[in-house]
Amino acid sequence: MTQERWDAVDDYVARMLLEEDPVLEEVLRVSAEAGLPPIALSPPQAKFLYLLARVHHARSILELGTLAGYSTIWLARALPADGRLVTLEINPDYAAVAAANTHRAGVAGPIQIKIQPALDGLRELIAENAGPFDLIFIDADKEGTPDYFRHALSLSRPGTVIVTDNVVRAGGLADPDTEDARARGMQRFHELLAAEPRVSATTIQTVGSKGYDGFTLALVER
Ligand code: DHB
Ligand code: MG
Repeated sequence: MTQERWDAVDDYVARMLLEEDPVLEEVLRVSAEAGLPPIALSPPQAKFLYLLARVHHARSILELGTLAGYSTIWLARALPADGRLVTLEINPDYAAVAAANTHRAGVAGPIQIKIQPALDGLRELIAENAGPFDLIFIDADKEGTPDYFRHALSLSRPGTVIVTDNVVRAGGLADPDTEDARARGMQRFHELLAAEPRVSATTIQTVGSKGYDGFTLALVER
């Protein structure tokens, strides 16, 4: 099975199950024009995250890694009228593109973009007692994920769902000899999960237009 086939199926799913969305197409176009890397969620993945937020009736969402705001917009659309979304982005140029995109999509109201390294932002949110969040999406630099997850737990309550992107890294997750610092970060993240009695978690491998990767779903239980 090839990337070509994975692309075709993602296109098929988008055509069949996702609405035409000129605003989101514009968001991706603007993002590419601004030179941001093409590493946003695929449309079917983004809709999965949106549906998860809706199923969970999430009213407060924290995102680490805004990029151009593609997943941010999907998540904001899942919020009720009085919902809130905080998103952390280390790169001020990316954050500016994201801010314009959330305005373009008409969802800027509930969104706070904090231009900070994820760890600084997390520490600040903890100090401000900004939690708990109903749903946390970890999608920042991969090496930092174990640290981000530990801090995310401090912004959680029993019932919080923590989704972490890019955990499989083309199978590097299961390679004990990998020299990829990102894959090693995800191995450390899994070691943390395995030793953490407060959460129940699983990891799902995915293929699609973004290649072979996967995500972890963790439920905070106590
Ligand atoms: C990378 C980061 C992402 O968040 C993603 O979805 C895909 C790739 C990366 O840094 O390589
Ligand atoms: Mg990602």
